Amino acid sequence: RNRAIGKAHSKLILIGEHAVVYGHPAIALPFPTLTVTCAIEEADSGIHLDSKLYSGPIDQIPKRLKGLAICIHKTIQEIGKHHNGLLLKIESMIPIGRGLGSSAAIAVAIVRSLFQYFNCELSDEKLRELVNIAEIYAHGNPSGIDMESVCCDEPIWFERGKGIASVAIRSSFYLVVADTGRAGDTRSAVGSIKHKLDKSPIQTKQSIDRIGQYTLDARNALIQGNLVQLGLLLNLAQTELEKLGVSDHGINHLVNIARNAGALGAKLTGGGRGGCIIALAENCVQAREISEQLNQNGAKRTWSFKVEETQ
Ligand code: PMV
Repeated sequence: RNRAIGKAHSKLILIGEHAVVYGHPAIALPFPTLTVTCAIEEADSGIHLDSKLYSGPIDQIPKRLKGLAICIHKTIQEIGKHHNGLLLKIESMIPIGRGLGSSAAIAVAIVRSLFQYFNCELSDEKLRELVNIAEIYAHGNPSGIDMESVCCDEPIWFERGKGIASVAIRSSFYLVVADTGRAGDTRSAVGSIKHKLDKSPIQTKQSIDRIGQYTLDARNALIQGNLVQLGLLLNLAQTELEKLGVSDHGINHLVNIARNAGALGAKLTGGGRGGCIIALAENCVQAREISEQLNQNGAKRTWSFKVEETQ
């Protein structure tokens, strides 16, 4: 019997979330620790999903996951090969709603596994086109950064509508990721900033523009290998995200714990209002200390990983 497995990793936004919706750049990194796989097997008839989110025929999928069903149908249509029935088994380590790109990663794993199952070549462009179908359904008006960063194995510089570029990293560093244990709601966080922009345009625009500038500065800090400066910029971005109202008490608490434990900088990552924070550490000893402090002071869980220098 034919079988196939497709894999995708999660992602982290280093800096630039929310401002990226308004045309500013953002920097995102692959987060290889957390992955999702989709394994496909032949089934007697119909297309079935087996996952923690939902198990059963995809034509009875709950509304909130409808984007995945549409993505699966479009992908099979695109491939254009006959099948009797398929079973898609999804196993994801990526917690949902934590700004780690779980929805995009699941869609990437599904599309990759289907192309592999039918022995068809998948171009980068086609992968993005098909995953975007699921993302638009899940997020409404996504900037596209989630999809780009889960498709890519390198750090990316992302600008809405302009695509991606590479980011040079001169000096490796560690990131500690800490989960608040609460799911964020990116769609409502993005909506609330839009609302704020209507209500108090000057201040809101100022915060958005500042995040854009900090992102440009962060790229230079990465190129120069200036981690102290990078940490400072992460902190400054967090201040603006707080002003924009997308941080919250739980996030601020973890950010302070990380800073007091020696992080060079710390901020929320992704949509905010729950979700995860990231903390910058110079080396693995520092990362371990930050991680321990976060675990002892309210983080649901933490992950540390090394971001390597680029060639
Ligand atoms: O999906 P999340 O929670 O990682 O957020 C994506 C980043 C935002 O800038 C908040 C939204 C977007 O579409 O770019």
